[in-house]
Amino acid sequence: MRLFKQLLVVFAVLGVLVAGLMIFAYDVVKIDWVVFMELQSSYDDQEKPLAVPARSIPVEGATYLPGMGEPLNPVAADEVSIARGAELYDIHCKMCHGETGQGNGTVAAFLVKKKPADLTSEIVQNKSDGSMFLTITNGIWNPNNTLFPEVEFSGQMPPLNENLTVRERWDLVNFVRTLKAAQ
Ligand code: HEC
Repeated sequence: MRLFKQLLVVFAVLGVLVAGLMIFAYDVVKIDWVVFMELQSSYDDQEKPLAVPARSIPVEGATYLPGMGEPLNPVAADEVSIARGAELYDIHCKMCHGETGQGNGTVAAFLVKKKPADLTSEIVQNKSDGSMFLTITNGIWNPNNTLFPEVEFSGQMPPLNENLTVRERWDLVNFVRTLKAAQ
């Protein structure tokens, strides 16, 4: 019986210690430890990219600079570009916009607020290459997004500038142009 009591005391003490540690481990009480990685001007995971500094020239070639209008397509729509675009489309767009571009991808059913655009439609095909490029770059943001206010788009058309290089985005534009012809 004495041993039992002693064990009980030991476990009680251990329990209190572990509980005390967990309070910090699970941020119940949050201590803002100084982490020097935080003290740099780059952006964090899931944070919006920093704005392009004024008058900077992108190293990857033609892309969007605020206030300079929409960019012109510098990539010729040749076989290579369209083949690349087709491959990238399968990876980055097909799940929403569908195999044939008609907006009937497998994910489309789950997009409640806004369905993926029909890329073969006149509305989309009448847009300039530059405008399509900007759509792929910046996504389509919902200014009235209250669900995730820290995210400026609400998952309708995501910005893909971090997934695709500038060249890849132009290849995609060139490929999307062929969707009309295939219709
Ligand atoms: C998560 C699903 C999703 C993915 C992935 C996606 N889109 Fe979209 N896209 C949408 C939705 C939804 C819309 C319609 C948005 C709206 O009208 O607000 C849209 C609209 C568009 C439009 C029409 C823009 C306009 O101005 O009307 C184009 C062009 C487009 N997408 C191209 C692409 C390309 C190219 C890719 C791949 C690189 C892609 N999308 C990937 C969901 C997606």
